[in-house]
This record gives sequence, structure tokens and C-alpha cells, in this order.
Amino acid sequence: MLHCFQIFGASPYVSMMKRITLLLCFWGLLSISSAQETDAEEGGGEEEVVNLFTTPRTKLAAAMSDFGYNLFRQLAARDTKASVLLSPVSMSAAFTQLSMGASERAEKQLHRVLRYHNLHDIQLHDTLRDLLTSLRASTKGFSSVERILLARKLRLKLEYLNAVEKQYGERPQMLMGGPRDQKSVNDWFKQQTGGKVDRVLATPLPRSSEVVPAGVAYFKGKWKTRFSQVGKMDEFRLDGEAPARIAVMQQSNYPVKMGIDSDLGCTIVQVPMEDGVSMYFFLPDEVTQNFTLIEEALTAEFVQDLANTLHSVHLQLTLPVLKLSYSTDLLGLLSGLGLSEWLENTDLIKISAQTPKLSTVRHKIVMETAPEGSQYASTTPSGQSLSLSYRVDRPFLFLVRDEPSGTLLLIGKILNPRDLASV
Ligand SMILES: *[C@@H]1O[C@H](CO)[C@@H](O)[C@H](O)[C@H]1NC(C)=O
Repeated sequence: MLHCFQIFGASPYVSMMKRITLLLCFWGLLSISSAQETDAEEGGGEEEVVNLFTTPRTKLAAAMSDFGYNLFRQLAARDTKASVLLSPVSMSAAFTQLSMGASERAEKQLHRVLRYHNLHDIQLHDTLRDLLTSLRASTKGFSSVERILLARKLRLKLEYLNAVEKQYGERPQMLMGGPRDQKSVNDWFKQQTGGKVDRVLATPLPRSSEVVPAGVAYFKGKWKTRFSQVGKMDEFRLDGEAPARIAVMQQSNYPVKMGIDSDLGCTIVQVPMEDGVSMYFFLPDEVTQNFTLIEEALTAEFVQDLANTLHSVHLQLTLPVLKLSYSTDLLGLLSGLGLSEWLENTDLIKISAQTPKLSTVRHKIVMETAPEGSQYASTTPSGQSLSLSYRVDRPFLFLVRDEPSGTLLLIGKILNPRDLASV
């Protein structure tokens, strides 16, 4: 009775198809339909790979995501034993604002790292502004604010301040170099995030601070399908330690997309959220803190392929109730991205004639997952012959992605949800 299907490489998803053995053993119908899709795609050749991202917006989103994955790899490598969070879109936006103040040479260096160099989009800043506006629609549950903080003593050029404000609506803030800076920066971000992100600067900036890009993100997405069992405490297994007790949410017959990647040793589930957002969980087979293989596989193309390859199933889904807060300085990671030369000579000539230096790169994220959702899971059996379950009860990696544009809103590695618990 049991048929196991493995899907072999057909363009344009050759790499993906090879790596993913989909969990099809129990769903004859699913496997057949996917085989047909695969057939239909054959003969497209490499063109389709090139055309994966076709509009200025999706190309930009792919570039920002690739920058984000690169930055995330640096962050994860810096803190191998720690849970980390990153909002790539927010940091892309912050560095894009900064690049507006650079000489042509320095702008090129920055754009290469931001992965903009192949876009050939002369409207880049407008494409980005419009994309940010659509991502920040309240229905997506995501918001981000970016601001460049600049020491007044640099004799800032008004033209730059005006240009950034005109393009992105966020005028760089002048730092006076005293203790009041911390409060005014924190108050501004708190107000801009509707009170959700407080204390972006946990400590005062050093008096000598010159250029400080800051990006802040808040996420409270809503699931498409709600969870009926909430707040139960459950074990979260830890690598080499006794399990932690955490609150979980649970729902049977939950509609998700799923795939098993045997090369990466993990099972991937995509959970749909409101307004085209989804959350991907990468759950290793083992309880481990080592996510190197998964981290190294992540690119915009890989995840786009995943979105096209995962299969719809219904399962018993158990997720941690997450309330996370993470704050960090990303300055030390920029060299690893190829910016060490730029850091020596930022050439931010449109900001100031005094060769300003980057002092710190502030990033803070607050996110929550709550059980709410607009739909109820169907109570009628889904027709699957086997009931599956997926329990996120050990260290995992996750992404939050805007599906229509492909933008990576958040990425995180959670070794212990309590590490980043916000009160
Ligand atoms: C993590 O996993 C990778 C790939 O399996 C391996 O090469 C590496 O040595 C591991 N790192 C540690 C610290 O165990």
C-alpha cells in the first residue's frame, strides 16, 4: 500500500529537487500532482532560473534577502552558543539611507554588499520606498523603522538630511554628544513603533560617536489558522542541558506546507500568516546547536524554491509561544561582509567633509507569536491515512517571509526560547 516517491531534478528547481525528498509516502495524490508539475516545467532550461525574480520589486527583495542571509551567517557565527534574531529588511533600509551620503566609490562598495550591484534599477530608492510601504501595512503585522544618527559636530550637510527625509520620511537625527542623546533616540523609536520597541540604546552612546545607523523591527503576525490549545507548558529540549519548560500552542489538523531535506537533516514547515506572510521552521532531526549546514544553504533562490516545492499537508502542530526581544551591535560583522576597506575610509562625503567614522550599528527586534488567527482548523478528517505531527520542541531556525515580494522580514536561530524572552 505504501508508495514512496522521490522527486528528481527537473529544471528550474534542480538543486532543490535533489536535496529534498518530500514526505510523500502517504499521499499518493499529492505526489502525482507534483510529478505533473515537474513534467510541465521540463524543457524550460536555465532561463527559468534567471527569471525566478522578474520585477524590480522581487529582484530588490531577493537582493535584500541575500544580504540578510550573509549578515545572518556572520551573526550566527559570532554567537554560536546564543539565540540570535535579525531583520534583514530593516538593516538593508538603514544601510541604503547611509549609502545616499557616500561618494560614488563608497556607494559602489556599499551597494555590492547590499547585493544591489546587479539590479540595474535606476529607480532603486523608489522601488525600496514602495516595497517598505507595502511591507509595513498593518495587516502583515510587521513594522520597521530606520534612522541614521549623526554627530552634530561633523558639520552635517543639509542636503543629505533633506534628501533622506524626502525619500524615506525619516530625517537623520543629530547627536549632541551628551547624556540626553540616549533618551531622545529611545523616545523617538518608541514613539515610531507605537510603544512596542523601547530602549533601543540600552546604554548611552560614547561622546565620540559620529555615525550610527539604527534599524528597529517589530513583528506580531497573525496566523491564518488559529490555535485552539494555548498556554500549556511543555518541554523544550536543549543541547547538553536539562529541558526548559515553555508555553506552547497546539492545533490538530493544521494546514501547512512541509518537506524533508535529508541533506540538511531537517524537516521544514511553512505556516501561513495573514496577508501573504509566512513563517518557515527548520527543525533539525537531532537536538543540536549546530546549524551550519542549514545556515550555509540559505539564499533567496533556495527559499523561493522551497516555497514552490513544499507540499500541503494537515498535521498536529505544536509551536512555542514566542515573546522575544534581541538587541545587538552589528558593527563587528561588517568586515566579514567585505566592508573592512570601506570602514577604514567611509567616504561619506555627502554627509560631512570631515571623513566620518561608523561608531556602532544598532539593531533591535521585538517579536511575538500569539495563537490568534482568522480561521479555524477544519474538524473533518483531511483524508490522509496517517496522522502526522510536527513539534517545535528543540533548537530551530525560522524565517518570516513576505511571499508576494519574497522579502525576508526576520530570521532567527532559537536555541532556547527563554534566552531572548522579553517580559
Ligand atoms: C557543525 O556541523 C558542520 C557540518 O556538519 C561541521 O562541519 C562542523 O564541524 C560542526 N561544528 C561544530 C562546532 O561541531
